[in-house]
Amino acid sequence: MKITLSAVKCDVGGLGGHSKPSERLLKEVKGYVHDFVKRQYRGLLMDYYIGHTGDDIHILMSHIKGKNNRDIHQFTWNTYMHGTAVAKDQGLYGAGQDLLKDAFAGNVKGTGIGYAEIEFEERPNEAIILLTGDKMGPGGWNLILYKAYTESPGLILQPDMFDGFAFNIMDVAYKKGDRVIKLKAPERLSDLKALLRDEHRFVIESIYTADGEPVAVLSTERLHNIAGKYTGKDDPIGIIRTQKRFPATGEVIEYFKLCPYITGDMRGSHRTALTPVKKNSNMSFMDGPSVTSALSFSVHDGIFTEPNDLFDDAAEFWSHIRKKAAQKNEHMREQEWFGCAMASMDELEYTGIMEKLEKLDKEFIVRESKKEIWPTEKETIIQDPPSGD
Ligand code: F6R
Ligand code: MG
Ligand code: MG
Repeated sequence: MKITLSAVKCDVGGLGGHSKPSERLLKEVKGYVHDFVKRQYRGLLMDYYIGHTGDDIHILMSHIKGKNNRDIHQFTWNTYMHGTAVAKDQGLYGAGQDLLKDAFAGNVKGTGIGYAEIEFEERPNEAIILLTGDKMGPGGWNLILYKAYTESPGLILQPDMFDGFAFNIMDVAYKKGDRVIKLKAPERLSDLKALLRDEHRFVIESIYTADGEPVAVLSTERLHNIAGKYTGKDDPIGIIRTQKRFPATGEVIEYFKLCPYITGDMRGSHRTALTPVKKNSNMSFMDGPSVTSALSFSVHDGIFTEPNDLFDDAAEFWSHIRKKAAQKNEHMREQEWFGCAMASMDELEYTGIMEKLEKLDKEFIVRESKKEIWPTEKETIIQDPPSGD
């Protein structure tokens, strides 16, 4: 059976800041979706799962309506509008912050809701991972996914993976449409690196097998492209199919051990180590750090099992990695506002620092040659010393 998985996420308000939704907000969103599904069971949705990562509420849905289906997108919009009303009623912070449009116009694309959709012929033992990030942009996963699909052990141990994988990469700085490039690994490894190193501009949108089977899909929305200013970080969501001819669940998540420094965190303007966290986590240090949670599910006839929280393991490997991430974050934050601790200028472009820089720009002067001029004391110009001859 061909099914579609739609993963959507939106920040409609946080408790005491940008940390997490309130219990009532989550309960109301779950109740809204539950009532809808009860009324229309197998009419629109086959199944769903709801949770949150930081202040973003995510919904994973299964259905047979295909990608970009108007009814699915309308339902998503309605659900987050309902959540916004609850958030306003409770006085939550940033109520409706990601809903950047006043009305729904057929698709959630461009509304501020992040989404990732994948359609495929369901395997009898379909295995997937739901990746959700907070206080980070979609390119924050570039390095981890690059490594999973170009360096995993399966690429040398599983003949069905020997042909490698194709990456669709989007230039998210381009605003007139979707500017994309398809690069195949292992043939184009250095080209992939040349683009993916720039997490702000080039973002993995989807990954396919060499013969075109969809493997992974990630949201690529950039809120500042929609709003024209900083309105919150993009906080991505992704769906990844695993096992057999795809990298195994463990191979996909392995590279989260790297905890790369990425942009996000406080005001979306700082660099912190991407930290793997347990499901339904809150934010703490510096409104951050940048975090990702990973849940695996089995899917059969469109019905999900309960999630397995991949960063909550008995061996405590991920607790150990979290300590490393915390240390990296402590070190980076010792730099405070200086140098690489803050985002690059092209990211800060959407924040208030531009106003400050414009004002400062007016105070600059270009020194007259050989004359020492202090800008605010032009009257005390130091004369050239006597030449001595
Ligand atoms: C980052 C984030 C927070 C806010 C910060 C200021 O994505 O959401 O770090 O940017 O708390 O929030 P405002 O401007 O709403 O007071
Ligand atoms: Mg928020
Ligand atoms: Mg968020």
